[in-house]
Amino acid sequence: SLSLSQIKFGNGEWLVGSVRYERKYNLPLPIIIPAVLVPMLLIIAISVVCYRRKSQQAEREYEKVKHQLENLEESVRDRCKKEFTDLMIEMEDHTNDISEGRIPFLDYKTYTDRVFFLPSKDGANDVMITGKLDIPESRRATVTHALNQFSNLLNSKTFLINFIRTLEGRPDFNARAKVYFASLLTVALHGKLEYYTDIMRTLLLGLMEEYVHSKNPKLLLRRSETVVERMLSNWMSICLYQFLKDTAGEPLYKLFRAIKHQIEKGPVDAQVKKAKYTLNDTGLLGDDVEYFVLTLQVLVQGEGPDITPVKVLNCDSISQVKEKIIEQVYKNLPYSQRPKVDSVTLEWRPGSTGQILSDLDVTTQKEGRWRRINTLAHYNVRDNATVVLSRVQHTQQSYDQNHDNHEERNALLEDDKVFHLVRPADELDEMKSKRGSIKDKSMTKAITEIYLTRLLSVKGTLQQFVDDFFRSVLCSGISVPPAVKYFFDFLDEQALRHENVDEETIHIWKTNSLPLRFWVNILKNPHFIFDVHVSEVVDASLSVIAQTFMDACTKTEHKLSRDSPSNKLLYAKEISTYKRMVDEYYKGVRQMVSVSDQEMNTHLAEVSREHTDKLNTQVALHQLYRYASKYYDGIIMSLDEDPAAQSKQLTLRLQQIAAALENKVTDL
Ligand SMILES: *[C@@H]1O[C@H](CO)[C@@H](O)[C@H](O)[C@H]1NC(C)=O
Ligand SMILES: *[C@@H]1O[C@H](CO)[C@@H](O)[C@H](O)[C@H]1NC(C)=O
Repeated sequence: SLSLSQIKFGNGEWLVGSVRYERKYNLPLPIIIPAVLVPMLLIIAISVVCYRRKSQQAEREYEKVKHQLENLEESVRDRCKKEFTDLMIEMEDHTNDISEGRIPFLDYKTYTDRVFFLPSKDGANDVMITGKLDIPESRRATVTHALNQFSNLLNSKTFLINFIRTLEGRPDFNARAKVYFASLLTVALHGKLEYYTDIMRTLLLGLMEEYVHSKNPKLLLRRSETVVERMLSNWMSICLYQFLKDTAGEPLYKLFRAIKHQIEKGPVDAQVKKAKYTLNDTGLLGDDVEYFVLTLQVLVQGEGPDITPVKVLNCDSISQVKEKIIEQVYKNLPYSQRPKVDSVTLEWRPGSTGQILSDLDVTTQKEGRWRRINTLAHYNVRDNATVVLSRVQHTQQSYDQNHDNHEERNALLEDDKVFHLVRPADELDEMKSKRGSIKDKSMTKAITEIYLTRLLSVKGTLQQFVDDFFRSVLCSGISVPPAVKYFFDFLDEQALRHENVDEETIHIWKTNSLPLRFWVNILKNPHFIFDVHVSEVVDASLSVIAQTFMDACTKTEHKLSRDSPSNKLLYAKEISTYKRMVDEYYKGVRQMVSVSDQEMNTHLAEVSREHTDKLNTQVALHQLYRYASKYYDGIIMSLDEDPAAQSKQLTLRLQQIAAALENKVTDL
């Protein structure tokens, strides 16, 4: 099949040459189809098999880990039961206190101070907590008057929204400042919580629009990056105070006590803050420390002949012993009213002469450059020994002595490194251990398993307390605070208005606004609601429970493997139950009779009336004014552009307040 091609185009004529047409092989369809399809099917089949294999392998791995965990738990079950019974008996003292209403709840003001301002830059020294403002007497009346006017101005919604939006538009108004500003606002507007709620709703609607249309709606309320997100946290803290006192506080307090008690039953390294009994693998005391329990007969100087028996460990450092003694002797006082460890001395009277016990003194043992903190075993204190606890007297002499001790102690601390139970590895030791690193690896595997058993046994012992707390928080029914119902309904309502908000997103919104924003914060910081001290070791275990609680509130499935973090392995069995509890809670709240705006307002007005006069409102206004002053020009500009603000002469009012307050600067 040969042909000659000639092309004519306009006037031109070209001879292109010959073109050969291949003869078309007419393959029959029944051959083509199998020839293409068979390899295709084969490839698909192979990949399916591979995938199945892989997922089966993952599944098998998961099953294996689960099975091993179950076996481990089974092996510690009896021990847990016994330890749990012991713990219950030993906690009886405290539970007696609890039933007598002796849970050391903080009052509303201290609670809000701590929740709002303790995490701020200055911590406990923040002016909102100390409440001290330096205003000269001569200026006080003017300042008070101007601040009241400023308060009136804040009560104008137009002004406040402009104020907040202006600040948020400024790059130097950072996340920390936003959080602080929102908390100041909460205190300043505490007298009118209905209004505060209205502002919060308005701002939230704006934030929602933003996330639903231009960002990922699932990330709404995830962090505290705007003023309103922090306002919501504070609103929840305000509205749930009563619920904490009435319902969830008791199981939380018991959980805290149980953790503390369980940890203190075993050795705790005072220096590296690791414990034998803990839920947190990073806080686990690795080496096996030999110890036994001692009972000390404690006399308190100047408080009569009554002897208090106190259980301690012979490996406890002297400060730890003091803590345990104070805990027992002053158990009826809240933490803030007890003497501090530094303000007491401990004297041991083995014979006719006494010996002052302290963490470091001339008898302290040395190991090379290391000094070992003194323990009861170091002093050879025996079971049933009598010790005397006395307050450090602040007379001149003892002050000097104390001062010397202090300096001596500092000198000791600077010279050498100190350790308590386990000596951290030196560079020298590290060199040695490098050589045996391969062997070490297989060792650590075995060791982690042993330690996991220990974590599991602590977990089993505390299980009841954890469950009780979760149940009290996630109990739907009449005890659900109206604020929760009100806010969840608000979220449901808003979700309906947007098409791209599915059920999972609503779940996340609820989780972000209540469990993560409020409960995790309280669970990790029991000292926000109770007058207690949370030590680092207790904190490490509380973090694990808080993490579990957070996991329970998410929708995503966590598949376990050998490399999963140990806190996930620890609660692998319970997590699905907890997840179900969260689902049921959200469902239960949805089914409740709704809370009307009016009911909510009545409730809020009640809170305002009951607590506002105790708060540092004037200080908050003063601090807020500093923001107004810092961003003054921007605020004035935004007010000038807003017709609603113009008609209310807001600019003028702010200028007058500024004139009255700035005067102070020239006065000083
Ligand atoms: C412990 O000491 C107290 C008084 O110091 C004494 O009455 C008691 O019998 C002692 N108990 C034991 C078991 O030694
Ligand atoms: C364990 O404790 C460490 C240090 O206290 C902490 O940083 C970590 O978050 C804790 N682990 C968990 C899972 O909470």
